[in-house]
Amino acid sequence: MTKPYVYITRKLDETSLTPLKEVAHIGMWPHEDEPCPREELEIQAAKADGLLTMLSDQVDEALLSNAPNVKVVANLAVGYDNIDVQAAKEQGIIVCHTPDVLTESTADLAFALLMASARRIVEASDWMKKGKWTGWGPFLLAGADIHHKTLGIVGMGSIGTALAKRAKGFDMKVLYHNRSRKPEVEKQLGVSYASFEDLLSESDFIVCLTPLTPETKLMFNEKAFDQMKRSAYFINVSRGQTVDEDALYEAVTTGKIAGAGLDVFSQEPVSPTHPLTKLNNVTVLPHIGSASVETRKAMMHLCAENIALVLHGKQAKTPIHP
Ligand code: DGY
Repeated sequence: MTKPYVYITRKLDETSLTPLKEVAHIGMWPHEDEPCPREELEIQAAKADGLLTMLSDQVDEALLSNAPNVKVVANLAVGYDNIDVQAAKEQGIIVCHTPDVLTESTADLAFALLMASARRIVEASDWMKKGKWTGWGPFLLAGADIHHKTLGIVGMGSIGTALAKRAKGFDMKVLYHNRSRKPEVEKQLGVSYASFEDLLSESDFIVCLTPLTPETKLMFNEKAFDQMKRSAYFINVSRGQTVDEDALYEAVTTGKIAGAGLDVFSQEPVSPTHPLTKLNNVTVLPHIGSASVETRKAMMHLCAENIALVLHGKQAKTPIHP
């Protein structure tokens, strides 16, 4: 019997793919930092039994309707807003993602970005590297304290919970807003539920960790920034499209809020001339939320396991429709 064919849209770590190599022929886009072009993805999907995709691939109805043999799509991310889940469901395709394995690393990055923004770490480093350090000053590159402040987490899934744990180590008060309340987390970590409006007006740091859905699209808009404290920092480690970037630019350049830390943008990669990348009070990162070597390998391995299981007619480990 011939082995099924699986196409992987980026060059990934070979050893992490072992579970898949044993059961399938693998085709792989040969570049690590360059996306597989749409035309190539279409050609490959038309003959594949499974796809291992990146968040930068659009797995839409048009692609899936020309992929008659595809039984499983495993996305190398916890978010799956790049996949038309409904179209996949209608074709009986199992969609998998990578929750849990990236929780702690993404929470680390979210807290690091919060700290970098508040304490002006990147700005100070860039400034010093430019040879500008000519003397000490009492308020030289002085930022904002983090300890004992109020953190507002929007989107209290496992990454939000892991972030709250980190914040508790800094004696922060933690508010959260989520579709559903989390009584267990409230009890365990001493965090409090707040309406979106109360969270915005009471928090010193507002961290967006919500998935991108029609309901969360552009939820951080002019009205939201107007409700934040002038001393507040907005941190986004979710998806760029949760934010109205023009409104954010206005907020950080007019003093409506103190600054921002952004790991994600509406359109990625951002153009080098994107106005939000030009500001000292905005720390920017190129979507590296889960990007530790260990975690990325674990995500690859999980995708490989999921595809292998589905191709064997078994239940995937982390399907989005269990
Ligand atoms: C995810 O997994 O959705 C993250 O955005 C990747 O860093």
